[in-house]
Amino acid sequence: MRHPHMPCTISVVASKGGVGKSLITACLAAHAAKRGFKVGIHDLDAQHSATIWHRARGSPSNPALLPELGKPGRGGPDVTLIDTPPSNLRVIKRAIDACDVAIIPVRAGFFDIAAVTDVIEMCKDAGRFFLLVLNAVEPRRRQLVSESMAALNKLGPTFDRPLEERAVYVTTLHHGKTGPEATPADDNKRSSSALRLDAEGAAEEIAALWDAALVVLKHARKSQ
Ligand SMILES: Nc1ncnc2c1ncn2[C@@H]1O[C@H](COP(=O)(O)OP(=O)(O)OP(=O)(O)O)[C@@H](O)[C@H]1O
Ligand SMILES: [Mg+2]
Repeated sequence: MRHPHMPCTISVVASKGGVGKSLITACLAAHAAKRGFKVGIHDLDAQHSATIWHRARGSPSNPALLPELGKPGRGGPDVTLIDTPPSNLRVIKRAIDACDVAIIPVRAGFFDIAAVTDVIEMCKDAGRFFLLVLNAVEPRRRQLVSESMAALNKLGPTFDRPLEERAVYVTTLHHGKTGPEATPADDNKRSSSALRLDAEGAAEEIAALWDAALVVLKHARKSQ
C-alpha cells in the first residue's frame, strides 16, 4: 500500500511502567498490517513483551519482528513501531531520536500525569512530534477522566478519545492477538455478545488512534 508519509517510525514511550506501551505497540502493529501496510516491530525492552507477543502470534512476517533498528527505506517496512522499556531514559531517548512520531501512553491520575513531563521534554528537545494517549480508563469515573484529559491537553497534543480499560485487550495477548481481534475462544467465561461489544469498542478506538497518529505524522513531515 502506498502512503505519502511512509516509511515512518512510531515509538511508544513512557518512563512509567505498566502504562500500556507494549499493548498499544501490538494493537497498532496488528491494525496497520490489517490495513495493508508492511509493518515491523522493534523491541527495545529487555522484558521482551513485544517479542513474546509476536512469537505467540506465530512469528508472522507482517507484522514482522525486526532484529535491528535499520534506516527506513526501500524494501523495509512502511511502518516501524518501537516498543520501549520504562525508566531507562537512555533507551527511551534512542527510540525518540529514531522516530517521526512518539506515542506517549498515560494512565489517569495525578502522579501518572506528573510523571509524563520527562518524555515530553525529551520529545521537544529532539524536535519530535508526539501524541499523549490516556489509556485504560474506567469510563464510569467521569470526573477523573475529564480532569485527566484537561491536564494532558495542557501538556501537549492529546488523542481525544481515551482508550478504555477492556478485558479483551488483556485476554487476547497470550494468544498473540489484540483486543479488536478477540473471539469467544479468547475468554470462555464471558458471553459472546459481551465479548463482541468489547472487541468492537477496542477496534473503534485503535482505528481512531491509528488515524490520529497518521495526522501527527503528516504535521511532522510538513515541518521537515
Ligand atoms: N486499555 C487497557 N485495558 C485493559 N488492560 C490494559 C490496557 N492497557 C494495558 N493493559 C494491561 O496493563 C498491563 C500493562 O500493560 P503493558 O505491558 O502494555 O504496559 P507497558 O507500559 O508496556 O509496561 P512496561 O513498562 O512494564 O513495559 C498489561 O497487563 C496490559 O494487558
Ligand atoms: Mg512493555
